Amino acid sequence: MKSQLLIPAVYDFLENIDVEGFEQFYEYAVKRDVPVVSKAVGNIIGFFVSLFRPTNILELGCGIGTSARYMLAKSKANYTGVDNNLERIEVAKRFLKDFKQLKFIHSRVEAFLSGTDEKYDFVFVDSIKKDYEKIWYLLKPVLARRSIVIFDDFFLYGYIFQEEAEIPHKYREGVRLIKRFINNIKNDPTVETVFLPIENGIMVVHYEG
Ligand SMILES: C[S@@+](CC[C@H](N)C(=O)[O-])C[C@H]1O[C@@H](n2cnc3c(N)ncnc32)[C@H](O)[C@@H]1O
Repeated sequence: MKSQLLIPAVYDFLENIDVEGFEQFYEYAVKRDVPVVSKAVGNIIGFFVSLFRPTNILELGCGIGTSARYMLAKSKANYTGVDNNLERIEVAKRFLKDFKQLKFIHSRVEAFLSGTDEKYDFVFVDSIKKDYEKIWYLLKPVLARRSIVIFDDFFLYGYIFQEEAEIPHKYREGVRLIKRFINNIKNDPTVETVFLPIENGIMVVHYEG
């Protein structure tokens, strides 16, 4: 869904920054009506990857691999993408065939996190937004010390800033859960968080361990 946080001129500026190698992702997304990361958020996560230089990237909700492409363009890290939609995983594998050290897992995020023994130092979370807090508690044990976690669409299209009566019914529960998550994570002494009003908002977490 188009950003409701940014004024149109800023949105257009960020979405029109030239990025090469993404045509097939965005064309597929439009043709098949598949959700993918925006260029603005893609550029930010790519920037964080080049700054932080992780060795083990995890993506929860990898879809057709658009966000993976932004991260992998800046890194030689191992990458694991998890999604419960097998068709999208197959597309991601095809679109990212030139990249090395990729692993795709067809699973629900919750089941994957409960079963993995790996540690990750950079995580992009882009699955169902109302599950973010539940995912955070499952994710913490698999984070390496001093890792970065980025949650996409964190402001739920701007609904978290609206009065309850103005929020469409289908987003009300999500808004309640995201607000609770914000309150809880602010009081977590193991993390530092920043919120960036890019696209539909992202939360960046620095986990100290
Ligand atoms: C916004 S799309 C991901 C877009 C992707 N990051 C990209 O840029 O191409 C969200 C994805 O999360 C997946 N998903 C949602 N909830 C999930 C869950 N609980 N477990 C696994 N995958 C989930 C959906 O199948 C969908 O492909």
